[in-house]
Amino acid sequence: MNIILMGLPGAGKGTQAEKIVEDFEIVHISTGDMFRQAMADKTKVGLDAKSYIDKGELVPDEVTESIVEERLGKDDVQNSGYMLDGFPRTIDQANALQTIAKNVNKPIGGVIYIDVKPEVLVERLSGRYICKNCGATYHKVYNPTKVEGTCDVCGGHEFYQREDDKPETVKNRLKVNIEMNTPLIDFYDKLNLLHKINGEQEIDDVYKEVKKVLQSL
Ligand code: AP5
Ligand code: ZN
Repeated sequence: MNIILMGLPGAGKGTQAEKIVEDFEIVHISTGDMFRQAMADKTKVGLDAKSYIDKGELVPDEVTESIVEERLGKDDVQNSGYMLDGFPRTIDQANALQTIAKNVNKPIGGVIYIDVKPEVLVERLSGRYICKNCGATYHKVYNPTKVEGTCDVCGGHEFYQREDDKPETVKNRLKVNIEMNTPLIDFYDKLNLLHKINGEQEIDDVYKEVKKVLQSL
């Protein structure tokens, strides 16, 4: 199975991806996670990406497309298929993906669009916190850890907030992504690949709908 998870920043792509990998054998590929890893490792890609990410801008298409191309060429993707999270975000990237998917012989089977109104997203992003040890994502109000201060997944006790979840950056991230959103939705709608899901429900209810779609692919 090869799928794309789409949605504005904070719509719940990462949260749903964590659930999907528990039920389906699929490789989770988040361009945002790849950039954050590259920034932590201080690689050239990471240093270049940082100047855009810190401002809430998109990293240039050529850079993003080339890391995705390299990742989709790996053996684990050949064996299990891919779940792209946060890519594509521009029409240029969507066109590039058509070519990459063809070259690696892994055509896109479906696109899940998690639909959430922009007004809801600021609160989601400002309340997000992440386990330092395993990367599990939580929310102060909507999805806290079961035991306060302890990660449900790994038992870790240290958490952090993402740099780009600061209010000023969030505003620009939303603006930039909203502009790109409609043309991308149309792109996949025309290819008959789009599945829109109401993302303004409880996390488990969103997942029920996501799972139903995935089982139908
Ligand atoms: P990236 O890391 O992809 O960030 P994003 O798209 O802004 O998405 P997020 O990770 O912020 O949100 P999400 O949808 O995963 O939400 P989550 O599940 O955490 O990208 C970061 C940056 O990298 C970009 O700004 C850009 O600069 C660069 N970049 C990445 N890809 C690129 C590309 N293709 N091209 C160019 N540049 C690129 O949920 C959010 C919060 O809400 C959590 O706290 C969660 O617990 C909570 N929550 C989730 N679901 C629900 C629910 N149903 N109800 C209530 N709360 C919920
Ligand atoms: Zn953890």
